[in-house]
Order: sequence, then C-alpha cells, then structure tokens
Amino acid sequence: MNIILFGPPGAGKGTQAQRLAEEYKIPHISTGDILRANVREGTELGIKAKGFMERGELVPDEVLIGIIADRLREDDCESGYLLDGYPRTIPQADALEQILTEIDKPIDYVINISVPEKDLIARLSGRVMCKCGASFHKLFNPPKEENLCDACGKELYQRTDDTEEAVVERLKAYNKQTSPLVQYYEEKELMKNVDGSKSIDEVFLSIKKILD
Ligand code: AP5
Ligand code: MG
Ligand code: ZN
Repeated sequence: MNIILFGPPGAGKGTQAQRLAEEYKIPHISTGDILRANVREGTELGIKAKGFMERGELVPDEVLIGIIADRLREDDCESGYLLDGYPRTIPQADALEQILTEIDKPIDYVINISVPEKDLIARLSGRVMCKCGASFHKLFNPPKEENLCDACGKELYQRTDDTEEAVVERLKAYNKQTSPLVQYYEEKELMKNVDGSKSIDEVFLSIKKILD
C-alpha cells in the first residue's frame, strides 16, 4: 500500500499515520520527524533546517527531495510507504513522481484530512509530542500517565514551532505553497477527502474504509 497523508498543520496526519502504519504494516515516513531528529542530533541537515522550522517556514525543496529520494529506497519500503508531510510544494510532488517511477511504486491514494482553521490552532496549542513521533493533546488526547508517552514511556515535550507566531506562519505556508497540491492530486484522480474534525477513532475508520 502506497499512501500520502495530506493536510494542514494539526490536521492529525501524525496521529493517524501511527495507527495506519501499524494496521497496514508499512513504514510511517514523516519529513517533520526526520528533520526534528536531525536538529536534535545537530547534523549538517539539522543545522540547515532549524531556522526555517522555528519560524514556521518550509525548508527548501532540494533538501526535502534529497531526504525522500534516499528514504524511499530503504528496504522497509518494499511493503509500501505512508508519507506524512511530504510533498508540500508542486516541485516536491513532481520530484516524487519521478522517484516513484524509478522505483516502480506508484501512489495508490492521497488522503486529504481537512479541519477548520480554528480547530487546527486549538489542536497545535495543546499538543505534546514524544521523540518517537507519537502525538498527544493536553485535552483532546491526553497520555495515560501525565507527560509520559503511551507508546515508549519517554517524557513528552512541546514543539518549538507550536508557538502562536510559528503556527500563524505554518498556516500561511500551507495555504500559499501546499494547498495547490489538492488540485494537483485531484486532477490525477488520487485524492480522497476525509473529514478530520471528527474524533480520532472516527477519522481512522473513515480512512480505513477508503483503503480496505
Ligand atoms: P511537520 O512536522 O510535518 O508539521 P505540520 O505539517 O505542521 O503538521 P503537524 O505535525 O503540526 O500536524 P499533524 O497533522 O501531524 O497533527 P498531529 O497528528 O500531531 O513539519 C514541521 C516543519 O518541518 C515544517 O513547518 C517545515 O519547516 C518542515 N518540513 C517538514 N516537511 C517538509 C516538507 N516536505 N517541505 C518543507 N519543509 C518541511 O495532531 C495535532 C494535535 O491534534 C495533537 O495534539 C493531536 O493529539 C490532536 N489531534 C489529532 N487528531 C485529532 C482529532 N481527530 N480530534 C482532536 N484532536 C486531535
Ligand atoms: Mg505531524
Ligand atoms: Zn514515545
């Protein structure tokens, strides 16, 4: 199964991706998680990406295209892939198409999770994250034990780009640079829309219905 999870910041891509990866036994590839790991480790890539991410801007296309070209060639993608947070611009989508042709793994579906903007802001401002990629919310999806990850037990943290200023920039970047991909994938007849304003379980079921 070859899937792209698409949607604005806070739509629930990471939340759904974790469940879907488990359900369909395909790797969850989040470019945001990859970049954050590089920032934490202080790699050359992380140093390059840090400022863009903290300001809520997109990291330059050539950086992301390189990451995804390497990642999709790893062995675990034999079973498929679940992309989360990539592509985010038309050049990224065009590059992806070329890579997927080369490795012969065409996209099955692009799942577009849509949520009203006021809900996105509420979701991001209360989010707490784990280094393992798991996402929680202080009110909407609290961890079983306060401030500890349900999945791996590590301490949760707040993302440096979940500040009000950075969230405004991220939404702007989405509207300007990423939302044109809706039409891009609609024209290719790959886009499936899901109402992301429902509960986490309901959203999961509506995605499953499309995929099964
Ligand atoms: P990235 O990490 O991809 O962030 P994002 O797209 O802004 O999306 P989020 O991770 O914030 O939201 P999500 O949809 O995963 O929501 P979540 O499931 O956590 O990118 C970060 C940065 O990296 C970018 O700004 C950019 O700088 C850079 N970057 C990454 N990829 C790039 C690319 N391809 N090109 C260029 N730059 C790139 O859920 C959010 C909250 O809501 C959580 O608290 C969760 O518990 C809660 N929640 C989820 N579902 C529900 C629900 N149904 N009901 C109630 N609450 C819910
Ligand atoms: Mg995410
Ligand atoms: Zn964890």
